[in-house]
Amino acid sequence: MPCICQPYSGIVVTADRCSFCTYGIDIAISTCNATSQLKDGGKFPISSFISVMPQNDQISVLFVCLGNICRSPMSEAVFKHTVKELGLEDRFSRIDSCGTAAYHVGEAPDPRSVSTCESHGVPVNHYARQIRQKDFTEFDYVLCMDRSNLSDLQRVKPRDGTAVVKLFGEYGEKGEKRIVDDPYYGGIDGFEVNFQQAVGFSKGFLKEVLKVNV
Ligand code: 4NP
Repeated sequence: MPCICQPYSGIVVTADRCSFCTYGIDIAISTCNATSQLKDGGKFPISSFISVMPQNDQISVLFVCLGNICRSPMSEAVFKHTVKELGLEDRFSRIDSCGTAAYHVGEAPDPRSVSTCESHGVPVNHYARQIRQKDFTEFDYVLCMDRSNLSDLQRVKPRDGTAVVKLFGEYGEKGEKRIVDDPYYGGIDGFEVNFQQAVGFSKGFLKEVLKVNV
């Protein structure tokens, strides 16, 4: 069956994944079905193919909050779980989390974060660490939870830092709340809200960055 890149590469997908452009077979089918409905019979210009063509490079993502015991280890766990469920693990070289502060370095995540994740079947496995200068060159995306995290990150980002630094909530749906509130001094309900946001933002990231249907 032809992949999305077939007009360009001539490749017919025989494995799970097209060897030329790395689209998965599901995406190849859905995209090719879509293009076959075009007036020109599914032949689209190379420029439009290139604009949707994913990089072969793997992506690295670092989630950041203040203490690295509540929101960011939860976001890391949810994102990893979503990536695994969608069979996208080979598209990522590293998924990690850290805090802007050092208060809880070496600690396991807050039990409320762990129980919220586990109630949704999402495993959590992390020990807190603080952000390092080299994170800004080692990671492609540094995604934080609130504006205070963002200004702290912008202050410590080195001049040669290459990472995209932004709110995780930028990947939310239009009109959705962008800020992941600090749940530390609140009740368990706040952790559930954080969890649901992490689910939505993870899918939004995968849609926008990897162009996958989720
Ligand atoms: P997090 O939550 O930034 O989501 O890990 C917090 C954890 C600890 C503290 C504040 C927020 N604290 O003040 O110790």
